[in-house]
Amino acid sequence: PTREGWMTPLTLYNQCWLRSHTLGKFMAVRDNFKPRGDDIILATHPKSGTNWLKALAFTIFNRSRCSLSDHPLLTTHPQMAVPFIGFSSTGGGDLDHLETLPSPRLLSTHLPLSLLPPAVSTLGCRVVYLCREPKDAFVSRWHFENMIGTGAPVGLDAAFAMFCEGCSPFGPFWEHYLQYWKESSARPREVMFLRYEQMASDTLEVARKLASFLGVPFTQEEDDRGVAQQVVSFCSFDSLRNFQANKASDSDGVEAAGGKLFFQRSSVFRKGKVGDWANHMSKEMAEKMDRLVEDKFKGSGLVF
Ligand code: PPS
Repeated sequence: PTREGWMTPLTLYNQCWLRSHTLGKFMAVRDNFKPRGDDIILATHPKSGTNWLKALAFTIFNRSRCSLSDHPLLTTHPQMAVPFIGFSSTGGGDLDHLETLPSPRLLSTHLPLSLLPPAVSTLGCRVVYLCREPKDAFVSRWHFENMIGTGAPVGLDAAFAMFCEGCSPFGPFWEHYLQYWKESSARPREVMFLRYEQMASDTLEVARKLASFLGVPFTQEEDDRGVAQQVVSFCSFDSLRNFQANKASDSDGVEAAGGKLFFQRSSVFRKGKVGDWANHMSKEMAEKMDRLVEDKFKGSGLVF
């Protein structure tokens, strides 16, 4: 089935809602993407801090090659710096192109685990999964839909109803979170499960864990020079938002049915706060979402 309501129509494919115009590309990933055992995949439910994670992981991973004063992220959107598996308009993630990249590859995806090839698990690919408190993820999603495209605004109530039904890009969000949560229990050394709130409360600690997980821990010599803190500051919200490639004046097009879907590059660096939901959602909405979350995650050990 296909549903209207968000900025572009969504189609349900293998229990996951995908933007209809991207369906072909994402359907191909499960059969045609060839994982390698040393791949590192940054997997996120959208609006959970993907670009922040990409910036941090990219900067940490490449720090021996790229100095902060002359860094690719000063001129390249984080979205483009880490290819999005199967999606050519975002960082050259076209499947043929991915084949040409040297190992170890730093890749990203919004797809649920069930739409990635099973070899991701069997080969032991490292995965960093990032999720976000669902009310904040929803509010970020709703704003984003209204900052892209040129159609009629997406109303908060209608968007909320769809989100709670599970109908949002790459949703249902609970299936997405739970698939990777279970994978992190099954493969604890290879799957790192992160939350936006944890990144916000202690970015330095997360950066250190990330560096170790990526196989490039900060050395004593780097600690003496405060390198981890420099990386964290370089990837802060204010910093990323102000890099030339991310500024509001630049708008960009992504492929959409019948043409391009335009979005402001700054639309992914909107506010960057924990708890912004309270500025937009009514008490009733918040209670409804909290009940839904409690119900969906019951017994999983995942609590918001
Ligand atoms: S997307 O389009 O799904 O890839 O968007 P994504 O990057 O996952 O999520 C966008 C939200 O992440 C916030 N963000 C940050 N928060 C804190 N620190 C940093 N450095 C940072 N970078 C991005 C961004 O502001 C979006 O959240 P909202 O609540 O909309 O501001």
